[in-house]
Order: sequence, then structure tokens, then C-alpha cells
Amino acid sequence: MSKLALFGGTPVSEKICPQPWPPISESTADKMRELYLSRKWSFNSQAEQDFEAAYADYHGAKHGIFMVNGTVTLECALLAGGIGEGDEVIVPALTWIATAMAVRYVGAIPVFVDIEPTTLCLDPEKAEAAITPKTKAIIPVHLYGSMADIDKFKTIADKHNLFLIEDCAHMQGGKWNGRGVGSWGNVGSFSFQQSKTLSSGEGGICLTNDDDLAKRIYLAKHIGYGKNTAQGAANEGPPVGLPCHNYRGTAFEATILKDQLEGLSDLIERYNRSAAIIKDKIADVPGVRIQTKGRLASPQGYYTLALIFDGKGIKDVPLMRIIEVCAAEGLQLGGTYGPVYQHLLFNLAEDEYRVDGESCPVAESTGTEKTAMLAHPYLGCDDETAAQMGDIIAKVVKNYKEL
Ligand SMILES: Cc1ncc(COP(=O)(O)O)c(C=O)c1O
Repeated sequence: MSKLALFGGTPVSEKICPQPWPPISESTADKMRELYLSRKWSFNSQAEQDFEAAYADYHGAKHGIFMVNGTVTLECALLAGGIGEGDEVIVPALTWIATAMAVRYVGAIPVFVDIEPTTLCLDPEKAEAAITPKTKAIIPVHLYGSMADIDKFKTIADKHNLFLIEDCAHMQGGKWNGRGVGSWGNVGSFSFQQSKTLSSGEGGICLTNDDDLAKRIYLAKHIGYGKNTAQGAANEGPPVGLPCHNYRGTAFEATILKDQLEGLSDLIERYNRSAAIIKDKIADVPGVRIQTKGRLASPQGYYTLALIFDGKGIKDVPLMRIIEVCAAEGLQLGGTYGPVYQHLLFNLAEDEYRVDGESCPVAESTGTEKTAMLAHPYLGCDDETAAQMGDIIAKVVKNYKEL
């Protein structure tokens, strides 16, 4: 008699539901109504200025520059750093395609480097080995629920005179060695797209401690106007060679984010609590492990809980089968992005990018074929549900021989 629900056994749980996402509140809805009736919808509202200051402060940075999404924040960071045509920029092989596409938007060449099998983040040693005389910047991504080793990347960036951008799209509120992510590199770039742990549907922000970079990022997002300069009232134009766009966000997004930020610490605490319960449940189950959090990461800002099924036995079971079996037990997992250079939407010509060493085996195998993701809204649950999720994963792995 089979134990697994897919083959007639008793499921661990009824279908486990994630918390509704993004969170909503009556008081934010009131503010949105007031804002709508005020007719003052555009950029640089008081809400936007307050949010920029509060978000920067939360992460230990001096400046925050709000924008329409977390792709153009990367682009503006690169532009502000003077990265462009003929330059190479190192990016991880496993990330959302935006990290690499932003590099291309400024005319530079993304160079894909492999990830670590533990954190699933950019491998510092491989990144340093991939540096050429053309390398001008490096973009580690704090992926899913882990942190790239930012100390090592700072050392590498200093040694080779590289511009360092932290892509923090997955890590709102996370801290490295006691200070917020995004405040360690030259610029930190965040996304507030619908699925992110702080969300206004769309949105993004650059954080920096550098006054001059903050100024240049602002010019790049506001068609060349400086901060608090009314349209039509500039005294000087932007510097020659700095392409400037309109990437301004609206007061609606800022109003939502400002309110949501107040709950971010609690949210992260809840996520870390649920993750700890799940980890505990599978601690003694050989075959499955959880993405390592990053050497000095505490707390983490989980975007997903990445489960790596690469131990003896289960590693030979196709990931889609594991996902199917977990779903039958009550838990819906998803797959990862896969390597950027193999993504369906990645359409750069061969001479527009480079894959270090021709392939990135860890990203292609461990990071793609062996890794399933539990989306963060599942982590906002009670302890009993977290324990059930752990039980499901443990059950599936222990009974891999049925698969
Ligand atoms: C790692 C990473 N970087 C950048 C982005 C781009 O953010 P946005 O979707 O807000 O443009 C995303 C979005 O999912 C992401 O996951």
C-alpha cells in the first residue's frame, strides 16, 4: 500500500493556502481615496519623499531614489556609475533576466558567472576569476532568501576598482552583519513588483550612501532635472553622456509602500519563524536541504524558501515529479527561473553577452533541476501549518522509492 497521496495514500493536509498577497488595509485605502480626490498623483509627493527617507534609513543608507520598477533602478545605477558601451558587467547565471538585461540597456555586456551550490548566489571566487580588463561592474543578487557574500564582493570590487551594485529585489529588509542589504555596495537596487515582500504592484528604489551617485541617479530617472527642481525651472542641464529617462513613480505607489514598510519587520520575523519550523522538520531527512542563508545574514527577507532536492535517491527524481507529489500532499511548490541565458525571454545575440567558462554547471543543475521554491506568502502562516509543510517535504523525500 502506497504512503504517498498521489498513489492513494492519505495526504498530510488539505490544500495549504498562502496568505493573500499583497496585504491590504482600510487605513491605506482611505489614504488612496484622499490622494485620488486631491488630484496630486505624480512624483515627488510627500508620501514618496517620506518613503524614500524611511526605506533608506531602515537599510542604513543615506539616500533613496524611488522609480517605476526594479529593472530601471538597475539601469539608472549603472548609468550613474558611468557603465556603458564596451564595458563588461559580471552577473550571476541564476537570477531574473532583468539583472542582465539592464546591463545590456546601457550598452554593456553581461558576463554570466556561476553560483555557489549552498547560497545559490553569485560565487565570489568564480566572479573574481572572470574579471577582464573590460570588467567595470559587478552585480551580486541576494537571491530568493539568501545573501551573496557582500564582504567578499566589496573586497573584490575595491581590489579591481569595480562598481558594485547589490540587486536586492528579493531581500527587502534583510540585514548583513547588522546593516541593511543595499547599503554595502555603491548602489542597492530593489523591486516592489506585485510578488515582492514589499509591494505596490510595480515600483523600485535605489539606495546609496554616495551624494554624487544619488544626484546622478535622480537625474537619470527624471529626464535630467535635479531633485526638487520644478519642471521647466532647471538652472543647468544634466552632464553630457548621462542618458536621462522618465522613470518616475506616482504618489499611489509611494502611499502604499510607506504604510507597508511599517509592517516589514514583523513580516520578516514571521517568515523566519515559519522557515525555522520547516527547517527543523527536515533537518534529519537526508536528500533535501534548504538554500543556505548567507554567512552573515540575519535576519533574512525571504522571497521564497528554496528547497534543494539533491541528496542520495531523491536527486534522480525529476523536479516536476517532486512538485506533483508535494501538491498531492497539500503543498504547492514552484520551479526556479533557470539560468538567464537559457530563459525563453532572453534574446540577446551571441556577441551581446558572455557565459564564463562556456557554461555554469551549478546554476544549470543544482539551481534549476534540483531546486523547488515555496513562495513567501506561504511562510506567513501559523506554526501548525508551517509544521505541516515541513512534514510534507519530509514525507515525500523519505518515500522517494515510490517515485
Ligand atoms: C533579481 C531581480 N532583479 C530585478 C528584478 C526586476 O524588478 P521589476 O520586476 O520590478 O522590474 C526582479 C524582478 O522580479 C528580480 O527578481
